Parts: sequence; structure tokens; C-alpha cells
Amino acid sequence: MARITYIEFGGREHVVDVVPGLSVMEGARQGLISGIDADCGGGCSCGTCHVYVDPDWQARVGGRNPIEDATIEFAENVLPNSRLACQITVTEALDGLVVRIPETLR
Ligand code: FES
Repeated sequence: MARITYIEFGGREHVVDVVPGLSVMEGARQGLISGIDADCGGGCSCGTCHVYVDPDWQARVGGRNPIEDATIEFAENVLPNSRLACQITVTEALDGLVVRIPETLR
């Protein structure tokens, strides 16, 4: 298991134990986290699973892949540490990961 902390825009924290192999987006769904809509179901085509990776975790999580880079254009308030949660595969090495959910205007 990898324990992931999801922090809503308003600051509310949720800690979810996620099975390795799932994505950070799937972990959010299991934890019923609001703000990660994942409209395309993980197909990297909607941009609604946008999260900010905590700076302390950026190196371990890695950067965006080329498809993700194109899709994230649909998201709002993109920052250098923005990732699409469906494109981050959970591993034991990500135990303790912290991601923040951006403000959504929808
Ligand atoms: S769920 Fe649609 S891009 Fe991640």
C-alpha cells in the first residue's frame, strides 16, 4: 500500500491507502475525493484529474509525458508541478505522497 494525502483546494485533507498499480486518480476515486472528476476515466483526454504534486515529491513522481502535456492544456491554473493524476502510477516508492487539488471553476 501507498498512503497518499489529497488536499482539497479549501485545505481539507484526505488520506487514502492506495494499492500499487492503481493511478493516483483511481486512489482519489476510491477515497471519494471531490475535485478530481476524471471525466474520461483515465484516458488522458479530459484534464479533469489535474493535481499539484507537492514540491518535495516532484523528483520522485517525475514529469509529464507528451500526451499528458498536450491534455493538461484543457486544465486551469497549470503550474510547473501540475500533473494529471491518471498518469501517475502508484508504487510503494510513492508511500507518503502529497497532492493538492486545484480550484475548479466548474
Ligand atoms: S482522467 Fe481524464 S485526463 Fe485524467
